Amino acid sequence: MKKITLLFLIALLIAACDADNFNMDNDNDVLDEPLPELPIAADNPLTTEGKQLGRMLFYEKKLSRTNTIACASCHHQELAFSDPNRVSFGVDSLTGKRQAMALFNLAYSGNGFFWDGRVDVLRHQSLLPIQDELEMDETLENVVAKLSEEQLYLDQFTKAFGSSEITEEKLGLALEQFLSSLVSETSRYDLYKQGKIDLTASELNGERLYLDRGCDNCHAGSNFDEPRSRFLNNGLDVESDFLDLGRELITNDPADRAKFKVPSLRNIAVTTPYMHDGRFMTLEEVLHHYASGVQESSTLAGPIFLGNNLTLGGFDLTPSEVEDLLNFFDTLTDEDFLTNPDFSNPF
Ligand code: HEC
Ligand code: HEC
Repeated sequence: MKKITLLFLIALLIAACDADNFNMDNDNDVLDEPLPELPIAADNPLTTEGKQLGRMLFYEKKLSRTNTIACASCHHQELAFSDPNRVSFGVDSLTGKRQAMALFNLAYSGNGFFWDGRVDVLRHQSLLPIQDELEMDETLENVVAKLSEEQLYLDQFTKAFGSSEITEEKLGLALEQFLSSLVSETSRYDLYKQGKIDLTASELNGERLYLDRGCDNCHAGSNFDEPRSRFLNNGLDVESDFLDLGRELITNDPADRAKFKVPSLRNIAVTTPYMHDGRFMTLEEVLHHYASGVQESSTLAGPIFLGNNLTLGGFDLTPSEVEDLLNFFDTLTDEDFLTNPDFSNPF
């Protein structure tokens, strides 16, 4: 009996050491299943009125101290709700520290929100940019007071929540409904996987290269961000150049130094610039990083780069292969999502 317990403990220990939990089998599991049914919190079901209120709030500049910045100022629909600026501009043109993330399929995220995964629940996440001094720099009390002066909002809160009383909690719930409704699943690649359209030879070769070079070790599954619940260092810098400690800032664990959330690659062709600090302007630069720019450091996702075809020494990428990969990335753009009138500015 004791022996079994010991073996069990050893197995647990081994599993715990393999914290980065790599998927090294290269078994082509990118989008083999469509996105599952939308997981929605039981205490905040999506309603037409609630989503509409969340949408109004998302485009509402009064959420900022200066009444000049809305969520949409940094998250643009036509760019999959990302920001073309390397770091975002908040109130008084103050610059933030990180690149604004694209917003879609958030309800599926099992990995926390923000680059370092510091918040787990959307209704809490959505109130933080309002109070962030480099973003909207406003207090929730002031937002509630400003909105309570407007009949438009008193009416919409009544429609959404049955009473015109505006509270911080309701703000979070309405934004959570809108953010949860941002689902992107009709790219050309989705249609191809559903057998509805064909891809060109170049796009198919790009898909093959994507799998072959091991990109799917980290960006796989129905949202190109699985396996989930991991924060990784994809080799952007050597140790002495770490400017942002990433996940370590949240866990205080040096093993998490310079690790960031693995982003989805859906809509990737329209969400330039790339990485948590927006250092790469083009996907071509990103490809060259993985092919020949990966930097060694104590927290580098080593097994990935040393195993498979992603070696630290780099992999070959001919100009025509780069073109094929870029054509493949273009198939991940979901035009319906980028132009869906349900998500546009309601004012
Ligand atoms: C000044 C620019 C700016 C404004 C305004 C802004 N954001 Fe963001 N947003 C960012 C940046 C930058 C990040 C990444 C921050 C980080 O990782 O620390 C981000 C991240 C997010 C994320 C996390 C996405 C993910 O995949 O983890 C969500 C959700 C989000 N913002 C929603 C909102 C909402 C809702 C508002 C309005 C209440 C808003 N943002 C206002 C810049 C902005
Ligand atoms: C070891 C896991 C891993 C592998 C393998 C990997 N990536 Fe990444 N990828 C990441 C992480 C982590 C980030 C975010 C890093 C950051 O911002 O600091 C990222 C970011 C990106 C981004 C930027 C996304 C954005 O929204 O800014 C692109 C594009 C990308 N990867 C493409 C690829 C391609 C193409 C391959 C194959 C050549 C690949 N990745 C292989 C982990 C990985």
